[in-house]
Amino acid sequence: MDKMLVDGSSGIETPAAVIAEAVQGEGGLNVATAEWLQKLEKVCRKHDMLLIIDDIQAGNGRTGQFFSFEQAGIKPDMVTVSKSLSGYGLPMALVLFHRDLDAWAPGEHNGTFRGNNMAFVTARAAIETYWKDESFANEVKQKSEILGTKLQAICDQYGAENFQRKGRGMMQGIACRDGELADDISKQAFKKGLIIETAGPDDEVVKCLMPLTISEEDLTKGLDLLTESVADVMKDDMSQAS
Ligand SMILES: Cc1ncc(COP(=O)(O)O)c(C=O)c1O
Repeated sequence: MDKMLVDGSSGIETPAAVIAEAVQGEGGLNVATAEWLQKLEKVCRKHDMLLIIDDIQAGNGRTGQFFSFEQAGIKPDMVTVSKSLSGYGLPMALVLFHRDLDAWAPGEHNGTFRGNNMAFVTARAAIETYWKDESFANEVKQKSEILGTKLQAICDQYGAENFQRKGRGMMQGIACRDGELADDISKQAFKKGLIIETAGPDDEVVKCLMPLTISEEDLTKGLDLLTESVADVMKDDMSQAS
């Protein structure tokens, strides 16, 4: 990106901003390394572009810290947050930005549906409850390890040619050989009472995105159902191959 922006004949004009996810959700659980994010921040500063992190899916503690980019130590100019932000399943979305970028006069940003009062109350309660100390973040880290271990076991059993673990924190999954295999696993899981979706360019990633407040017991139960679903599908797959 830097090379294209430096080169006056590249045909690429300097954009106003760059928007990125630190862990891509729908894109298939691709994790940006801390180094990559730091380099991106540097390119943005060098060319006077705003750095926007879309933390709608990876934020709110999903990767262990409140924001997904914290471990990279970067300071985005803008951050989008939504999904579980209200802590109560209520619709809520925020765009956080540096005070220097605030171009709105008071009351200027209006519309029919704006901040949902109830969601603001529950979001504040969620932040005050779960982020008052390190305990919730530690709980997420602990559950992330359980998730990672169980998913890795699936990958180890059937080999890297069939499955590879992807993601970070409590947004991890398995990249399957192809979208068809991922779809079969998701359908088999549904039959067993487990709802699990797929993501990625070919919907080839079986994505675990359970509530952060899930009990370890329910998490283990869900992952066991996923492991069984993979086993059922792979049994058919291997019998067809032989
Ligand atoms: C990373 C990311 N950004 C944006 C969106 C869209 O959010 P909304 O439905 O609040 O517009 C989603 C929805 O899945 C998302 O995962």
